[in-house]
Amino acid sequence: MSDVVLVTGANTGIGFEAVRALLQKGLTVYLAARDNAKGEAATAELASDGQVHFVRIDTTDEATFKPALDRIEAEQGRLDVLVNNAGAAFPGNVLDIEPDVLRLCLETNLHGPVRLTQLALPLLRKSQSARIVMVSSGAGRFAFFEGGGGSKVLSGKPPYGYGLSKAGMNVATALFAGALKDEGIRVNACNPGYVNSLVSRFMGTRTPAQGAEIIVDLATTQSEATGKFFDYDGSEISW
Ligand SMILES: NC(=O)c1ccc[n+]([C@@H]2O[C@H](COP(=O)([O-])OP(=O)(O)OC[C@H]3O[C@@H](n4cnc5c(N)ncnc54)[C@H](OP(=O)(O)O)[C@@H]3O)[C@@H](O)[C@H]2O)c1
Repeated sequence: MSDVVLVTGANTGIGFEAVRALLQKGLTVYLAARDNAKGEAATAELASDGQVHFVRIDTTDEATFKPALDRIEAEQGRLDVLVNNAGAAFPGNVLDIEPDVLRLCLETNLHGPVRLTQLALPLLRKSQSARIVMVSSGAGRFAFFEGGGGSKVLSGKPPYGYGLSKAGMNVATALFAGALKDEGIRVNACNPGYVNSLVSRFMGTRTPAQGAEIIVDLATTQSEATGKFFDYDGSEISW
């Protein structure tokens, strides 16, 4: 009986490559995307790699969560792994970000994934070995913003909403891990590195497949580690 995985934001980029690698390892994957056409096209492209099914999930629209989870329950009876990968970059630094942009950023990258996790718990509790993978970022670490946030990557103008949403995801990881530890549900965050995709405006130096490696490791490991933050090379990093 293969493990059942749900990966959000999986029609492209790191999530798409994570689905491909998980299928090649023999897992059953629910590929979630917010856009029907993109999700169906991605699922068709990966169909020869294994058992892949499309579900529509928009992290800003809670109404899309339950139908997707209900379908997984009806077809599989459980969920072994939830990968909260969906995310996007939003413009604006701390001096000028528009309130609506900030709200959309937090809804997309933090509140939606946290709510989806809450609603997926009953299905995860039906697994013998449940895992939750939060796809965070180096931009969610306080170390990233030391000295006012000037970095080679961001040229001294770090986007506020993205860093805030990923720092919040790190908080959520630690708190979910603590709350679910006694039930044996493991919750870890990871940084896929600086990846060539829309989020990095295609300036990243790593391929999406390389970015997916740490996600796949955390999705498939039998390690008891929980409440940890892992870098793209598998090393543990500070929050
Ligand atoms: N690229 C990097 O350097 C980097 C570094 C650290 C962390 N990350 C994180 O890695 C994850 C994957 O990003 P990526 O680099 O693969 O970027 P990407 O190629 O832009 O993929 C992002 C995915 O998230 C989806 N998405 C965006 N908003 C959504 C919403 N409201 N509901 C559902 N899905 C939504 C996108 O769907 P659409 O195609 O419909 O827009 C797409 O499938 C993100 O969480 C990102 O923050 C990336």
